[in-house]
Amino acid sequence: MILIIDFGSQFNQLIARRVRECGVYCIIEPPTLPIERIREMDLQGIILSGGPASIYEKNSPRIDQRIFDLGLPVLGICYGMHFMVDTLGGTVKRAQKREYGFAALNICKSDALFSSIPDHSQVWMSHGDSISQLPTGFDVTAKTDNTPVAAMANETQKFFALQFHPEVAHTKKGKQMLHNFLFDVCGCRRNWSMKAFARSAVAEIKEKVGNDKVILGLSGGVDSTVTAMLIQKAIGNHLTCIFVDNGLLRKDEANKLKVVFKEHLRLNIRYVNAGKKFLDGLAKVADPEKKRKIIGRIFMEVFEAEARKIEGANFLAQGTLYPDVIESRSAFGGPTAVIKSHHNVGGLPKRMKLKLVEPLQYLFKDEVRKLGAQLGLGSDLVWRQPFPGPGLAIRIIGEVTSKRLQVLREVDAVLLEEIREAGFYRKLWQSFAVLLPLKSVGIMGDSRTYENIVAIRAVTSKDAMTADWAKLPHSLMGRISNRIINEVRGVNRVVYDISSKPPSTIEWE
Ligand code: XMP
Repeated sequence: MILIIDFGSQFNQLIARRVRECGVYCIIEPPTLPIERIREMDLQGIILSGGPASIYEKNSPRIDQRIFDLGLPVLGICYGMHFMVDTLGGTVKRAQKREYGFAALNICKSDALFSSIPDHSQVWMSHGDSISQLPTGFDVTAKTDNTPVAAMANETQKFFALQFHPEVAHTKKGKQMLHNFLFDVCGCRRNWSMKAFARSAVAEIKEKVGNDKVILGLSGGVDSTVTAMLIQKAIGNHLTCIFVDNGLLRKDEANKLKVVFKEHLRLNIRYVNAGKKFLDGLAKVADPEKKRKIIGRIFMEVFEAEARKIEGANFLAQGTLYPDVIESRSAFGGPTAVIKSHHNVGGLPKRMKLKLVEPLQYLFKDEVRKLGAQLGLGSDLVWRQPFPGPGLAIRIIGEVTSKRLQVLREVDAVLLEEIREAGFYRKLWQSFAVLLPLKSVGIMGDSRTYENIVAIRAVTSKDAMTADWAKLPHSLMGRISNRIINEVRGVNRVVYDISSKPPSTIEWE
């Protein structure tokens, strides 16, 4: 395993991604991690990430300097390099010129990290500080025009450091450098696979849960479904899943999911048909935040009432993913942001005195998809686009009524059919329709119509933090519009949303 120390860089998740792509397991921990804990870990090497602080500032983040006495290889990146230099007796100064963006790297001494890397290549820099004096035992191994120490190494101790970011795609040979560090310097083996993960996760769940019972809120999304599959593998029918049908799902969704859960995955599952409760609660409410709050509250009430019927349950399972875990703590160890998800059931664990099981908490989304496939989940579910907890209610602008839900469901079904048919479903992060609270005039046959407008939203994204509107082919957009207007009663106009996130969000409400 490789330990990545998180000094707060926006790229630290990317370092973990790259390491895992090489088939090596790694975890990201804050610099407050005690040295005793590090000593207990079975480590092959340590990576010190970049970060926004300056090492000479008061309160800059620091990890116990005894990490350099463990006899392990260390790779410092950007701020991680500055920490290494400062700790081992060199000097870091504010650079005369801040370097940001592309730079041409010139290797002046090829070492293990640069093995099979050409002497000149493109790298990506983002720093305001530079090394002015190396610690004893180090050599400069690469420079750029503005940075005399772009890389340094003490090969005897296996300490390496880079002023640029090898983890970003802009650094052309970055992946090879990380590969060299992992395999040539640290001697890692390529043994991180979803098969191995599943095996150890099942064993861990067994040990943690023992003979107790576990409850899980199943949404039909890939995260909660894969969580359920793992736990079921570990404890069988001691897992009870609760599926709350809030009446705000896509067309036929609840029925299709029921078949998969029961017949294919053979999950022990309780369905709660709560559509009427949600619709009643939403009556005459148009404000988006109020809608969200009402849906959240009713969901909790329904879920809790059902959960209380399950005797002897001591655990609640959640499909929390690694980015949520990392984002919910700062580089300084304390929690900064609240984990967003609506699908985690808020205050329930405390109220019902439940302990948490979160078997996916070290995985990234694409790893969860791989794990799902490994566990036998069909590609329909593995590749499902994300769907928000409050469902179609936040895609009906204004009041949610059963009639408007019906219109949106039909529109959305046509849209998805065309998107799938054209081979775009997997390429898009999300594609959906929004029903607007506006009517416009149209003409159908010889008659005037005065009907609803729907907006189509299709975006590409890696993580939903940012998103771009999808440049769908005009012919596809034409087919979608024609079919919706011809096939769905009550709609006479289709518009396409061409806003990116930020400043717009993906969902309209
Ligand atoms: P926004 O609209 O904030 O959405 O750009 C980002 C991503 O989050 C999804 N989303 C939700 N997911 N519960 C969820 O489980 C919610 O309340 C919720 N609101 C938005 C949205 O679909 C997009 O993928």
